[in-house]
Amino acid sequence: MSQEMQQPQPIYLKDYQVPAYLIEHTDLRFELAEEETLVRATLQVRRNPACTRTKAALELHGHESVELCRLSIDGEILSERDFSRDDELLCIPAVPSRFTLECVTRIHPQSNTALEGLYKSDGMFCTQCEAEGFRRITFYPDRPDVMSVFRTTVVAERARYPVLLSNGNPVESGDEDDGRHFVTWEDPFPKPAYLFALVAGDLAVLEDSYTTASGRSVKLQIFADSKDLDKLDHAMLSLKRAMQWDEQVYGREYDLDIYMIVAVDFFNMGAMENKGLNIFNTSCVLASPRTTTDAAFQRVEGVVAHEYFHNWSGNRVTCRDWFQLSLKEGFTVFRDSEFSADMNSRTVKRIEDVALLRTAQFAEDAGPMAHPVRPESFIEISNFYTLTVYEKGCEVVRMLHTLLGAELFRKGTDLYFERHDGQAVTTDDFVQAMADVSGRDLTQFKRWYSQAGTPRVEVSDSWDESTGQYRLTFRQSCPATPGQDKKLPFHMPIAYGLISASGDELDAGVLELTDSEQSFTFDGLAERPVPSLLRSFSAPVKLSYPYTDAQLMHLLRHDSDGFNRWDAGQRMTVGLMQSLMVDYRASRELAVPESLIDTWRGLLLDESLDPAMVAHLLRLPSEAYLAELADEIDVEAIHEVREFMVTTLARALQDEWSEAYRRCSDDQAYTADAAACARRSLKNLSLGYLLATGEEVWLALAEEQFNTADNMTDQQAALALVVHSGFRHAGERLLAEFQAQWQHEALVMNQWFSIQASDPWPGALERVQQLQEHPLFDARNPNKLRSVVAAFCAQNAVGFHSADGSGYAYLADWIIQLNKQNPQIASRLLTPLTRWRRYPEAAQGLMRGQLQRVLESGDLSRDVYEVVSKSLA
Ligand code: PHE
Ligand code: ZN
Repeated sequence: MSQEMQQPQPIYLKDYQVPAYLIEHTDLRFELAEEETLVRATLQVRRNPACTRTKAALELHGHESVELCRLSIDGEILSERDFSRDDELLCIPAVPSRFTLECVTRIHPQSNTALEGLYKSDGMFCTQCEAEGFRRITFYPDRPDVMSVFRTTVVAERARYPVLLSNGNPVESGDEDDGRHFVTWEDPFPKPAYLFALVAGDLAVLEDSYTTASGRSVKLQIFADSKDLDKLDHAMLSLKRAMQWDEQVYGREYDLDIYMIVAVDFFNMGAMENKGLNIFNTSCVLASPRTTTDAAFQRVEGVVAHEYFHNWSGNRVTCRDWFQLSLKEGFTVFRDSEFSADMNSRTVKRIEDVALLRTAQFAEDAGPMAHPVRPESFIEISNFYTLTVYEKGCEVVRMLHTLLGAELFRKGTDLYFERHDGQAVTTDDFVQAMADVSGRDLTQFKRWYSQAGTPRVEVSDSWDESTGQYRLTFRQSCPATPGQDKKLPFHMPIAYGLISASGDELDAGVLELTDSEQSFTFDGLAERPVPSLLRSFSAPVKLSYPYTDAQLMHLLRHDSDGFNRWDAGQRMTVGLMQSLMVDYRASRELAVPESLIDTWRGLLLDESLDPAMVAHLLRLPSEAYLAELADEIDVEAIHEVREFMVTTLARALQDEWSEAYRRCSDDQAYTADAAACARRSLKNLSLGYLLATGEEVWLALAEEQFNTADNMTDQQAALALVVHSGFRHAGERLLAEFQAQWQHEALVMNQWFSIQASDPWPGALERVQQLQEHPLFDARNPNKLRSVVAAFCAQNAVGFHSADGSGYAYLADWIIQLNKQNPQIASRLLTPLTRWRRYPEAAQGLMRGQLQRVLESGDLSRDVYEVVSKSLA
């Protein structure tokens, strides 16, 4: 087989070997310029005493885009014969046990469209090194278990790049020749190369400070383009709250004297936790009431906290290898989600997290890319920044918290941080700390890390009237996933409550399942209870129990667990919609039972309920969730049944929606507190139902809200609702007005794009193709691709799954174009096509055909190759 024909090969966790060489010190000098940047790296290298391969060569990772200018060992320049190099690796076979390596490389940030390594975002230089971007800067052991102290000098033209940043503390600065200046930074904490960062630009800054629990003052700086300086307050406030929360809840203090965040417009992901110098996608840091929705405010708070929390869970203690990614991500998502729960409504946060897990992560588990929280192998690690590693990984940590209780869990994290500070470790080490503080055997629990798939738990019960004994029987199983046919039983905590006919809680606690079938008995009950199972979603599983509507109604009214109250409502509507889908396919007339309408009326009129909770209860399950639950996804039936439900509930409860709208509208000026957000969410839900009646009066109300809103939540809700409604002309009018008002705000315009791309009305593909011609659309900017291409392919099921296959061909065209330009984004956008097995045969053929076309388009990046080949396997 010729060189070009060789397909990318997987690497395996079982092949892990400790590094043969360690880097004690890394000294970097960057001479930044538009066309090319020179990087001089001086490394203090020594043999790793823990490595038994005595003759091992020094292996440095590299990339085809990096030009090697000079390489020397202890001042002796190496010639071509002294080392070997291919696109990925540079090997020096004979090196001393301790030496200085100097390496000069030339790189091209301007033409770096992959946005990995050093690149330009608008006018500024920035870096992204996780997971394997540092090797696009210089030759280096680019693996997380090689940790080094860094000293970095950044040199650039002073006029264009007045701000020069890197990790740690600034220690020196001054002038160089030709109008250039420099700043030298020193980071005293050893870190892997993936946490390296550099920024150079003409940036405005918001400054503040934070005094830690032990009394040290930390300088806080958030950098952004000067036009966005007014949108940094919320991030700053969130940062200070996160710093305090981590001291109180985990006893973790910040360790450097300065903490910096930089907002950049071109970014593949949400944000990055580089030591002392976080780099953020603008969408995850900028916020102001006029331009930012409540949901986006929450996201900023969560992501700022997430990156901050990484300073301990990720940076001080990092991952041994990338198979351990969930060690830092699962744990840090758990930390940020608890933080958000403490700052806002715990129940609402739980509902939102679980909704995401059950739609998107469960779908991942059921697809060709399904993998365990700790994968066994990968071709391209970028493909494993997944809902499974993040969100399911968070649930696994949450289960440990549930099993141990808050106090022991905290002892466990204390031990983990103390034992492993400054080390690169594994998920086993994390669990071991929990086992050691609790004395519990967590061997079986660790299957959550190694077995993929969503477990099923089937529950049945029995009641003995004569003895007052109630019995719950659980059966667990887990479907096969790629490479794993048979699964062993999981150790899972099932939080439960038993509820009497009068609504009292007869018993509550946590059951621990360990066997494939297990029963628990409860004695001395005076009546047969209604079981509330899997409270707060205590394990990431699909639990079924043959609830009657009456039982669900009972839980909805009386369960002390807010999450299960919501879930009871969901179970009811999902059950109804599933039976309506059967009716729809059989061309039977559809009807919503009076009892459901009455329940909803009761909820809408009950002023004692939290409006946010009511809004969540009365929001119908998403099309994506219904799709995930289906054996075979019937896109049209799901859409039509959901539309029917919306219209029916809209008309039947018109007065109640109108009343709820009125009750939740206040004339007070905008505030962002939880209560105000809750009111807006119920108000806008009500507006959506009112519009769905098709009555002109409600269009007038929506337009008035659009015109008079003093905040983006209300204005954007009105826009989206009208655009997605049958009032097509009004929709176009509002879109034009919105554009005229906001064309200078990139993030606002992203929403303008995505509202249109996700509009299911006929002609969606043509509209999306037109959006791509818009002057503000830029195919090199990931946020724009997400707002248009992903919004259409992933959030517009009806448009994307058009029967002629045009949606599939459209996505494949994009993948082929982006494969070289930005492989990470290309492979992420691919997701909807990979799910072809879930659709009817005709769609399957068309989807597979497009995947095949991508595969045959040739010269695939590892990212795209892995996803396409696994999807077709
Ligand atoms: N580590 C980042 C986070 O979760 C995510 C990220 C991964 C960002 C890879 C960029 C590249 O906080
Ligand atoms: Zn993270």
